[in-house]
Amino acid sequence: MQDKGLIVALDTDNLERVKVLVAQLKNKVDYFKVGLELYTTFGPQVIEWLKSQGCSIFADLKYHDIPNTVSHAALALARQGVDIFDLHLSGGPSMVETTVNQVRQFTKEQGIKTPKILGITVLTSTSEQEYSKQGYSEALNDRVISLAKMGQACGLDGVVASPKEASMIRKACGPDFLIVTPGIRPKWAVSDDQRRITTPSQALNLGANYLVVGRPITKAEHPASAADKILMEMEGLNN
Ligand code: C5P
Repeated sequence: MQDKGLIVALDTDNLERVKVLVAQLKNKVDYFKVGLELYTTFGPQVIEWLKSQGCSIFADLKYHDIPNTVSHAALALARQGVDIFDLHLSGGPSMVETTVNQVRQFTKEQGIKTPKILGITVLTSTSEQEYSKQGYSEALNDRVISLAKMGQACGLDGVVASPKEASMIRKACGPDFLIVTPGIRPKWAVSDDQRRITTPSQALNLGANYLVVGRPITKAEHPASAADKILMEMEGLNN
């Protein structure tokens, strides 16, 4: 995995729309993110189709259940050939560790690619105010760090987190821990329901490796030009 890149979120239930977006974007982006909506609608078929197009896939299904259930679902994703998947760190260390160990053992035995496994810290749509209603005694930032460190201790490759938290995670977890950040909004885009956002160049400067961008690209009038603008900003060409 290179240490920085662009992931486009295919958040739709329309396979024709996916096909159009992939045709426009596949030579520009590093990974396509298949989320709950698309996977729940089309299942492994959409993964198979994306693989047939030569795309790399981040299955953003945010698993959270008992260790046995999550690890078996993760093995199914590994068999389907996804390149990255994620789980909620709030599911706890035994869920995370069991999944990491089983996926690594299974892919080694089968001689298939081992997907990168990322942990979700706190959703980027969660505001401080909303977080405070969830009854945690830790401050939001402290919770993000304790979740990230727990995930690292359980063997995860990295985390998904707000770009606003990237620099403190980088400091706490070191240079090799992947930080994937949604909540990216270029200056020219609307914020939608995202709350803890930054621009693409700010996110990279804060220590993020991969930027997840959905609506600023997929809802743009010209998705390929929107992706180009973001890629230029990531290369530091239009700041
Ligand atoms: O359209 P937008 O750029 O807001 O899409 C961001 C994507 O990243 C969505 O698919 C969302 O589910 C996902 N995501 C997020 N916050 C997280 C983890 C994933 O927004 N912490």
